[in-house]
Amino acid sequence: MGTALIVLAAGEGTRMNSDTPKVLHRLAGAPLLWHALRAGRALEPERIVVVTGFGAEAVARAARAAEPEALIVHQPERRGTADAVAAALPALGGFAGDLVVLYGDTPFLRGETLAALAGARARHDLVVLGFEAADPTGYGRLLAQGDSVERIVEHADATPEERAVTLCNSGVVCADIGLFARLVPRIGNANRKGEYYLTDLAALARSEGLGVGVLRCDEAETLGINTRAELAAAEAAFQARARAAALEAGVALDDPASVIFAYDTEIGRDATIGAHVVFGPGVTVESGAEIRAFCHLEGCHVSRGAVVGPFARLRPGAELAEDVRVGNFVEIKAAVLDEGAKVNHLAYVGDAHVGAGANLGAGTITCNYDGVSKHRTEIGAGAFIGSDTMLVAPVRIGAGAMTASGSVITMDVPDGALGVARARQQVRPGFAARFFARLRAARPGPGEA
Ligand code: UD1
Ligand code: CA
Repeated sequence: MGTALIVLAAGEGTRMNSDTPKVLHRLAGAPLLWHALRAGRALEPERIVVVTGFGAEAVARAARAAEPEALIVHQPERRGTADAVAAALPALGGFAGDLVVLYGDTPFLRGETLAALAGARARHDLVVLGFEAADPTGYGRLLAQGDSVERIVEHADATPEERAVTLCNSGVVCADIGLFARLVPRIGNANRKGEYYLTDLAALARSEGLGVGVLRCDEAETLGINTRAELAAAEAAFQARARAAALEAGVALDDPASVIFAYDTEIGRDATIGAHVVFGPGVTVESGAEIRAFCHLEGCHVSRGAVVGPFARLRPGAELAEDVRVGNFVEIKAAVLDEGAKVNHLAYVGDAHVGAGANLGAGTITCNYDGVSKHRTEIGAGAFIGSDTMLVAPVRIGAGAMTASGSVITMDVPDGALGVARARQQVRPGFAARFFARLRAARPGPGEA
C-alpha cells in the first residue's frame, strides 16, 4: 500500500524576526521546506500535502518548485499541529494507506529515517519518531515503557517528574490514514496554550487499545530551526558535514573551512577546489577539474580537465566541456563552451555558444541585452576573438574566423573571415613632442599664478 505525506509549514516563525516565512529561510542554498520535502521523497509518497498559513503564496510557490504535484492546503488560523493536519486531511480524500506527518522546519531529517519509521508500522499502529535530548527543555516528552508510548506531554503542560524525561518527540508521526481521520477530530485544546496538539493522538490511540511505538533517531537529525542563531548554527553544521564528505569522496580542498557548498553540490574525485570558493545550488564539477580560489558557481557544469578562476563567476546555464579554461574576472551565463575553448581574462559571455578550441581575448563582451530582450552569440570552432571585442548580439562568428581587437561587431563574420570594426589608426610624427612643449610653455612660473 502507498504512503502519503503532510508537511506542516503554516508557522510564521516569530522568533526569526523576519517578514519571510520561517520555512523559506535558506539552508545550504535551499529553503528549509525543500530539505523537508527531500527527506519525504524517500517515502515515494503517492500524495504530498503542504499546509501553508503565514506567507501562504510564497510558501506554496516554493513547495511547487520542489514538488510540482504537491497539494497546497491553507490553514487560515494557526490553532495547533492537530488543526493543521485536520485542514490537510480532506485533500487526501480517497487515499488509502499510511500517512506520515512532518514539519517543514526540520531540515536534517534523513530519508532513511523516514523509511525506517514507515517500516516500524509493521509493529505499531502509530509510530512516533523520538530522540534522546541533551537538553529536553521545550520539547514534548514521550512517556514510554521501552518502545511502547503511553502518551506525549508538551513541555508547558508537564509536571516536574515528566520534565525530567529526556526521550523527546520529534513531531514526525506515521499511522494508517484511517486512524488520523478517526482520531484527529477528537483532539481538544484543553492545555496551557489552548492549541490543538497532534501529540494527543498517542493517548487517544492508546485509549482505543491501539499500539503506539517510538522509533529513535539521532538528536542532530530532528533539529528544528526557530531562530536566526539556530539557522546559522545549522548552516555551519551542514557545511562541516559537506566538507568532510567531499574530502572523503576524494575531492582536494585547499582550505576546506573557506569553501561553501550547496545542498546539491556534486564534485568528482580528484577535482581540486581552491580557497574561498562558493557553490550555489545546481553545480556539478567532474573528476579532475580545477576550481581556483575565489570563484562563485551556480547552476553550472564543469567537465573533466577544465580550469576555472581564480576570481571567476559561473552563472546558471554555464556548461564547460572538457579542458575549457575560464580565467580571472570572467563571467559566464547561459553559455556552452565546447572542448578546449579559452576565455582567460576579464570577459562576459552570456547567451552564447563557443565552439571547440575558440579563443576569446581579454575584455571580450557579448552584448546580449538590448534593454528589452536577450539575444544569442554564436562563435564557431577555432575562432579567435581579438581583445576588447564587443559582440553585439544576435551575431555569429564563423568557424576559424577572427575579429580585430577593439572591434564592435554588429554583423556576422563568415567562416575563416576577419571582422574589423574600428577607426583606422593615424600616426602624426612629432605631434606629442610639440603638444607637450606648448603646454609647458604656457604654464605660469613660480609666484605668477
Ligand atoms: C512540536 C511538538 C512537540 C515536539 C516539537 C519538536 C506539538 C503539539 N508539539 O512543538 O511535541 O517536541 O514540535 O520540534 O505538536 N504548525 C502549523 N500550524 C499550526 C501549528 C504549527 O502548520 O497551527 C507547524 C509549524 O509551522 C511548525 C510545526 O507545525 O513547522 C510545529 O509547530 P510548533 O509550534 O513549532 O510546535 P512546537 O511547539 O515546536
Ligand atoms: Ca518548533
